[in-house]
Amino acid sequence: MSGGKTIVLLGVGVLIGLMATAAAMSAWQQRNALPKGAMALMQYHLSKARRAAGTHCYPERARQHLQRLDAISNDAIEIFAALGQDRFAIEQRAFARVVTDARSAPDCATLSTGIKMVADACDACHHNLR
Ligand code: HEC
Repeated sequence: MSGGKTIVLLGVGVLIGLMATAAAMSAWQQRNALPKGAMALMQYHLSKARRAAGTHCYPERARQHLQRLDAISNDAIEIFAALGQDRFAIEQRAFARVVTDARSAPDCATLSTGIKMVADACDACHHNLR
């Protein structure tokens, strides 16, 4: 094989390698987009619930955000199971109970206490799945 051909083949090899790496990295990012997105939404609804139950006191709105939180954490079971995180489902059950308790609070003060416990339950799962 001539030197020129070898260099061209080497170049093609490196190019294919780069493309494969880029594809793998993009797949990796997509794989992480769903769990990250789910968590970001949960964070969003948690802070909205906290604010709704806070100074202005909109209990119904706070409950709606807690309901979204409940639904998303439930969706997340499948998302994390697909990633091989099978302990997520067990942790989520404990979390869902705390969210259900928080939702049934009759007034803003009790809602706020419940929302604080939900935030602690987020941390508990993060701690346990680490
Ligand atoms: C049942 C388990 C569980 C519960 C409950 C849970 N999380 Fe997570 N959370 C995880 C896991 C696992 C990760 C790591 C996900 C990853 O990046 O792959 C994570 C990551 C995160 C991240 C970082 C995401 C990123 O961009 O890397 C945030 C923010 C977050 N969670 C917020 C919350 C909030 C807010 C709550 C409660 C409302 C919550 N989580 C409840 C398991 C849980």
